[in-house]
Amino acid sequence: MSRQITIRPSGHVFQAQEGETVLEAAMREGFMLPYGCRNGACGSCKGKVIEGAVDHGNFRDSVLPAAERERGNALFCQARPQSDLLIECREIGAVKDITVKTLPCRVQTLELVAPDVMRIRLKLPAAERLQFLAGQYIDILLKDGTRRSLSLAKPPHDDALIELHLRNYGGPFSRHVFTQMKEKDILRFEGPLGSFYLREDSNKPVVLLAGGTGFAPIKAIIEHAIHNKLKRRMILYRGARRPADLYLDELPQGWQRDHAVSYVPVLSDVADGDVWNGRRGLVHQAVMEDLPDLSEYEVYACGAPAMVEAARRDFTARCRLPEAAFYADAFTPAVPATN
Ligand code: FES
Repeated sequence: MSRQITIRPSGHVFQAQEGETVLEAAMREGFMLPYGCRNGACGSCKGKVIEGAVDHGNFRDSVLPAAERERGNALFCQARPQSDLLIECREIGAVKDITVKTLPCRVQTLELVAPDVMRIRLKLPAAERLQFLAGQYIDILLKDGTRRSLSLAKPPHDDALIELHLRNYGGPFSRHVFTQMKEKDILRFEGPLGSFYLREDSNKPVVLLAGGTGFAPIKAIIEHAIHNKLKRRMILYRGARRPADLYLDELPQGWQRDHAVSYVPVLSDVADGDVWNGRRGLVHQAVMEDLPDLSEYEVYACGAPAMVEAARRDFTARCRLPEAAFYADAFTPAVPATN
């Protein structure tokens, strides 16, 4: 039997299915409640049950002592509704509401998905989860004190493992990953960081522009939108040099087939012998050919600085895109100079 949950003070209402925790139900219906470990150990998800009853589940006593339970407090990552509920808690509305953490992690898998792109999956300690918005990034903290910024390639609901896409453009961290890193190696990172995430308070159609490994945060945004059943029209323009650079291409093909996310791959450097019947040229120019009037769109762009800057300049100057409707990733080291 499903239960209705109303959040105070926002007035948001959602349904919890049989067996779901309050947090699971909220995330499934697209409401972001704060959380940390998601296993009853940290208290980040604590809120108040004003009306109704919950099964408190498993938790550390020190995090939710009996006196707090009697006052109506609950850990929403553990609490399962036993009736309709009125709850009081903070909701995550923007990056500023999310706690930036420094965490260790273990390399779970390393997978070459293109000749020079590694998909890295990282596992957090059992008592930790990373809360983030789709599109944000983390900084890997290197032993020499430097940092390497990499976008989170999975959406927030799919957070059992952290996924990153790294292009080998010859820097020290890429060299290390491609030649020495092994599964089970330990890394440290800080995150989530960045203000590149889908603004969900708009119904405008969205153009997503991804160049090279700029595909990673765009993938997270699209998978988040699909999971949350967002109704906005989405068109993905993906730029690469050659066919082999369109790594994980079965994903956007599947989004187009099953979820009405239009997909337009565009190659800039097709070589003799490549099999390619699709669009050619610079990816942002393909957008302008198809959508000469962007005045009613929002654009989310991630890729090489040259691509992002050309898109910002030309979309606003020639296609009537409002400056404020252009969102781009501000960091660039993970993204090679390709369009
Ligand atoms: S106790 Fe850590 S997220 Fe719920």
